[in-house]
Amino acid sequence: MEQEKYLSDKVKSIQASGIRNFFNMAAEVKGAISLSLGQPDFVTPRHIIDAAVKALEEGQTFYTHNMGLIELREEIAKFLSNRYNINYNPKTEIIVTIGVSQAIDTALRTLVSSGDEVIIPQPSFVAYQPCTIMSGGVPRFVPTFEEDNFVLRPDILEKNITDKTKVLILPYPNNPTGAIMTRDELAAIAEVVKRHDLIVISDEIYSELTYGVNHTSFASMPDMWERTITVNGFSKTYAMTGWRLGYIAAPKGFIKEMVKVHQYTVTCAPSMGQYAAVEALKNGDEDIKKMVTEYDNRRKFLLGEIRDMGLHCFEPRGAFYLFPSIKNTGLSSDEFATRLLYEGKVAAVPGTAFGENGEGFIRLSYASSMNDLKEATKRMREFLKKI
Ligand SMILES: Cc1ncc(COP(=O)(O)O)c(C=O)c1O
Repeated sequence: MEQEKYLSDKVKSIQASGIRNFFNMAAEVKGAISLSLGQPDFVTPRHIIDAAVKALEEGQTFYTHNMGLIELREEIAKFLSNRYNINYNPKTEIIVTIGVSQAIDTALRTLVSSGDEVIIPQPSFVAYQPCTIMSGGVPRFVPTFEEDNFVLRPDILEKNITDKTKVLILPYPNNPTGAIMTRDELAAIAEVVKRHDLIVISDEIYSELTYGVNHTSFASMPDMWERTITVNGFSKTYAMTGWRLGYIAAPKGFIKEMVKVHQYTVTCAPSMGQYAAVEALKNGDEDIKKMVTEYDNRRKFLLGEIRDMGLHCFEPRGAFYLFPSIKNTGLSSDEFATRLLYEGKVAAVPGTAFGENGEGFIRLSYASSMNDLKEATKRMREFLKKI
């Protein structure tokens, strides 16, 4: 039976993630060191695991409220208020989701009507485009450039706004570049957002992983709270990727509608993970500090090594990625990453996995042990000498 003809046009039009393709390739190369994964190498801190085990032992195995445990929503509200000065009512303005992945999908499906345009700065996380298409929207890519520290430029944003534009996705701190946006830079974006009456989905999953600067939430900018859907989660901050927990915080008029999408697709996030997340928010500050200190050491080490090898590299201030330029090797991102994998035995992700203008770059993750980083950079040096 031919299956193709039964598939939806939307699904057929989207591609499998370039990161996963590359990751699968890397898994077949014996002895390769992978700097390709976007997840912490740390195991979830013990006290957070214990909270989940305790919840299970106490029989907390039932559906929770669709929006998530109220204790968890209260902790999330406190966290957002204390850390980023944005205030949400835990009863009506927060939904606990299955990772930020589901938060992005739910937000887009709630906001986008067929044909609405969604602006996606690139390079950026691989899910924005397919989720936009699946919601019936039209992705409109806006490039960011290394010369601008990979921040979204208000003039370029404005040029790409049409009378169909409804949503702007704001992906900072950024995967894959590690760029952050300062308050002043966000203020310039806020002006454009207001002038063109846009809604912003601000993906702040790396908000706690910044180095020498504090994160600014877009919703804390003047007049932006009412037009911002903040999405954030536990995967990166607390090394909890496998738990699948995130959240959406937004004004109640949006949340009320998002709950419908959320309810009919997933009912609620897993209960035991929600108990773990309460513990993470209550007692996880020291864990974050320790991990951020360790990431920062690795960031400095890797940046130093990469520059010393003769590759040009922007200094990232957020997330756990480096996005060096490989333009001076004369190879494309794909060629470079493929040859580095097979000849150098190091897996990196080609920049093009994050959008066309990622050409000329590769993404290296320093959420890998220092030993792996040392060995990987040694191998990269050898590889660069050969090509
Ligand atoms: C920018 C960004 N947003 C969202 C996600 C999805 O995270 P989660 O594990 O919470 O679904 C990722 C994961 O890599 C990411 O890099």
